[in-house]
Amino acid sequence: MTAHRIILDCDPGRDDALAIALALASPEEIELIGITTVAGNVPLELTQRNARLVCELCGHDQVPVYAGARRPLSRAPVTAEEIHGRSGLEGLEVSEPAMALQDRHAVDFIAESLGSCGDDGLTLVACGPLTNLAMVVADFPKLLAKIRQIVLMGGASRVGGNVTPVAEFNIHVDPHAAAAVFACGRPITAFGLDATYQVLAGPDHAERLESVGGAAARRLATLLRPVGSGPARFGPGLAPLHDPCTVAWLLRPHLFEAQSVAVAVETEGDHTLGTTVVDWWGVTGRAPNAEWVTRADGDGVLDLLIERIARL
Ligand code: RIB
Ligand code: CA
Repeated sequence: MTAHRIILDCDPGRDDALAIALALASPEEIELIGITTVAGNVPLELTQRNARLVCELCGHDQVPVYAGARRPLSRAPVTAEEIHGRSGLEGLEVSEPAMALQDRHAVDFIAESLGSCGDDGLTLVACGPLTNLAMVVADFPKLLAKIRQIVLMGGASRVGGNVTPVAEFNIHVDPHAAAAVFACGRPITAFGLDATYQVLAGPDHAERLESVGGAAARRLATLLRPVGSGPARFGPGLAPLHDPCTVAWLLRPHLFEAQSVAVAVETEGDHTLGTTVVDWWGVTGRAPNAEWVTRADGDGVLDLLIERIARL
């Protein structure tokens, strides 16, 4: 099994942190060549700090971390401290990491990595607003062919949105970037809320990880407990675990099912901004541009996450 060579673009963020940890805990299948960060759950100053903190906590301070876009392409920044806390890693003790932030801009790192990678290209995993990836698509069109695939967490269709009735956070923050990425022509596997709402984590999962893991796992386990009581719609103490689904799919694709669909992103509308418009029945005649994940084995994903992070 050849390793997936990936760049993980994210906005840590409690679930982003678990996606980073899952990737770092899976070196047999994943070569994480760098982490790029974007403003999202919390401002860029905190997302880039948090990415470095998580790498250090996981014992992998050799992974280069880069800062990217500090605001969406054209909208004002929107954050999600109510979910992730003011630090972005609510529940974890935060401090200034010892490992340095890389000097280059995230977009330049992604472009240079694409330019120098082999014929197999690179997998771009995106767990935050898609601003960095959209800038790569716009500024480096000749490198698009080196993007082997894009695996992203974002969007919502059949289950409705989580920041508006129709829009999911990552897409809503930067709908113009999302529209550009979904139109870029490269293979996309999209984990919208349709999929991630089937992966519900809570105190039992945190306790399992604490009981089987080492020091890093015992600290990361708190991220499996929702901030506050968690949204009532998912059951007592449970909340969806979004971002790790992207990495879990690279490790165990059989845990998921997807459908080839044409996805468009609404970039206008007082009520519809950030909607991922999924053409389930091909009524638009547009060619499919994404594998939209429709089913997730929630227990299987959480078992994999606990088993792997316990190894750190
Ligand atoms: O809507 C959930 C997504 O928005 C996740 O990626 C979470 O980290 C936030 O970025
Ligand atoms: Ca995220």
